[in-house]
Amino acid sequence: MNPPPHHLLRLTEDGSITLFSEQFQEACHSMAGAKAETILHYIQGCEVVKKLNAKESISILEVGFGLGVGFLTTYESLRPLGKKFSFLSLEIDRELLNWFMEQHQGHPVIEKLKWVSSDRLESHTDLVDLIILCGDARDKLPTYLKEHPQSFDAIYQDAFSPKKNPTLWTKQWFKLLHESAALDATLSTYSSSSSIRKSLMASGWSLSKGERFGPKRSSTRAQPFGETDPEILSQLERSPVDALCDDNLLETKRLSTL
Ligand SMILES: C[S@@+](CC[C@H](N)C(=O)[O-])C[C@H]1O[C@@H](n2cnc3c(N)ncnc32)[C@H](O)[C@@H]1O
Repeated sequence: MNPPPHHLLRLTEDGSITLFSEQFQEACHSMAGAKAETILHYIQGCEVVKKLNAKESISILEVGFGLGVGFLTTYESLRPLGKKFSFLSLEIDRELLNWFMEQHQGHPVIEKLKWVSSDRLESHTDLVDLIILCGDARDKLPTYLKEHPQSFDAIYQDAFSPKKNPTLWTKQWFKLLHESAALDATLSTYSSSSSIRKSLMASGWSLSKGERFGPKRSSTRAQPFGETDPEILSQLERSPVDALCDDNLLETKRLSTL
């Protein structure tokens, strides 16, 4: 298998593959296991099997399609339930999406995946509506939601790290996600950094600690309403870092050009 342009293939410890992005200088998953991490943080972290068992259908949003591990693992986990779900994902790299489609030509959902416009891939089967918006998520998601208002039951926040991919971890980004979340939604992410926890709280999310995976000591789960875990609150009170905001990103950019 050849990697897509500007990426390197990496074998992770559970035998699944991830990609290292030369542009972002980061791998899409933990080297401790791409698939295992996806199951822990997203399938279990967002309780998608339980949610689909309890409802007629559910709606999932993924931030960062990458090499599709999130979608493929979700499909594998939800297919046995025989109920329909929708999966909306966001990806800026068109070449990566074209590579993904080439790799999974025999897959019942991916073989139907087609460009329906210059910035949107869609596949519709009895079990899933898969839609991938191609372009900067910060522009594409709000535009799409204006035309297709909906609320998400589960949100997989799986951008590259806040240091490498800061625009997808700001208070403004999390506010958009909060406005688009169902009342009982779960947002889950591998990150436990104080700055992103502050961004989440500043945009209305209530936080709890998620499982640890690989070398990371914790992760984060968020609900649109409710109480934040007191341990997280006291950790954030002690931490000197600020929430990530669009304004302080501009400030960082300005300073780095001086
Ligand atoms: C950590 S990887 C996602 C891994 C993926 N969930 C999977 O399971 O394979 C993050 C992805 O976000 C994409 N990305 C980065 N910035 C973006 C942006 N502003 N808008 C949309 N996608 C972006 C990257 O190209 C990369 O593929």
